[in-house]
Amino acid sequence: MSATSKSHPNEPGAVLWHITMSLDGFITAPDDTMDFAFLVGTASPLAEEVMRTTGAILAGRRWHDVAQERYSGRKGIYGGRWRGPVFVLTHRPQDPSADPAIMFLSDGIEHAVATARAAAEGKNLEIFGANVAKQCLQAGLIDEIAVHVVPVLLGDGVRLYGGSGGAEVRLQRTTLAESGQLTDLRFRVLRS
Ligand SMILES: NC(=O)c1ccc[n+]([C@@H]2O[C@H](COP(=O)([O-])OP(=O)(O)OC[C@H]3O[C@@H](n4cnc5c(N)ncnc54)[C@H](OP(=O)(O)O)[C@@H]3O)[C@@H](O)[C@H]2O)c1
Repeated sequence: MSATSKSHPNEPGAVLWHITMSLDGFITAPDDTMDFAFLVGTASPLAEEVMRTTGAILAGRRWHDVAQERYSGRKGIYGGRWRGPVFVLTHRPQDPSADPAIMFLSDGIEHAVATARAAAEGKNLEIFGANVAKQCLQAGLIDEIAVHVVPVLLGDGVRLYGGSGGAEVRLQRTTLAESGQLTDLRFRVLRS
């Protein structure tokens, strides 16, 4: 079943990793700057579709701290056009968020995905960033990946799928589209 065609409202939605990436595979420039993501605009039917079908978001603490400091936190998500519960995995739940509507989770990746997925109420759970997404992939918890490729080479930053211990993940492309200078890609994660 596709992530956007649920037949029953009580059925859980898909878990979808949504990311903007430079051509050389970085999701931020050094120092967590995200200016590259806005270089050629963000208008994209794929982004609109993902936003419309997202019921909750799960991110990591690094996203949280950067977003609070520079990008209006929860209110900066999709330029403020999206509303819904936002969950953040952290080892520091005692160090509270400036936003009381952001829920911190610390009981592991499976518990975090289950909690956030339940909160999505049948819509999709969207995963942010790279670290948490990689943990989800390794645990077999991601169904789809939606990527916007920006025509820029950053040379350094946070890698889409970096660090040690990354096992191979096979994908099937389901969307290939142009949105101005963005290349939009969507993949289904193949389970072995
Ligand atoms: N290009 C894009 O589309 C896009 C989208 C979203 C975000 N971003 C950016 O990408 C960067 C994300 O960086 P990232 O992927 O390295 O980090 P991240 O996933 O945002 O956060 C990683 C941090 O979350 C906490 N964490 C992760 N897993 C955990 C677990 N299982 N249990 C408890 N805590 C856990 C840890 O922080 P603590 O130990 O400190 O608690 C960890 O260092 C940020 O700069 C963000 O702004 C880019």
